[in-house]
Amino acid sequence: MYFPMSKVVSSESETTEIAKQFSKIISVGEIVLLNGELGTGKTFFVKSVCSDYGLTNVSSPSFAIVNEYHNSKKIIHFDFYRIKKVEELYDIGFEDYLNESGSIIFIEWANLFSEVLPKRNYQIDFKLLNNSSREIRIQKND
Ligand SMILES: Nc1ncnc2c1ncn2[C@@H]1O[C@H](COP(=O)(O)OP(=O)(O)OP(=O)(O)O)[C@@H](O)[C@H]1O
Ligand SMILES: [Mg+2]
Repeated sequence: MYFPMSKVVSSESETTEIAKQFSKIISVGEIVLLNGELGTGKTFFVKSVCSDYGLTNVSSPSFAIVNEYHNSKKIIHFDFYRIKKVEELYDIGFEDYLNESGSIIFIEWANLFSEVLPKRNYQIDFKLLNNSSREIRIQKND
């Protein structure tokens, strides 16, 4: 997989295929930003990546703001959608999560608080094109 990459998918299994390839590339200490409107597939993508790591208890963290999953890999899964003020992020220890080097961090709706994000990241943009197709774009920022 080379970046930037962009693909139009028309089924869940095509999305899963991209997620699988992506899961092989990312490693501990990396941060993955997922942006896109409601229902475009951000959580689905994180689930697919985690499933490749053998983690199956993945769910949307929108109410909890952050979920953690681990086995041999540790995954931190944020969702900024319900956050109103950046202070709420600091209250739940966002900076500690960032400084922790042993995990991979996923952030849904990362664009809502772009000021708190490290410059070095993978950015994935999801877009619904029509009823049956979606565009997934992945770029590496550093
Ligand atoms: N090609 C596809 N890729 C991903 N999801 C798909 C695809 N086709 C259909 N879906 C369905 O679309 C839905 C995407 O929902 P998901 O919760 O992943 O969106 P989200 O971007 O996380 O939304 P939110 O902003 O509410 O968190 C799922 O129900 C999934 O099954
Ligand atoms: Mg979601």
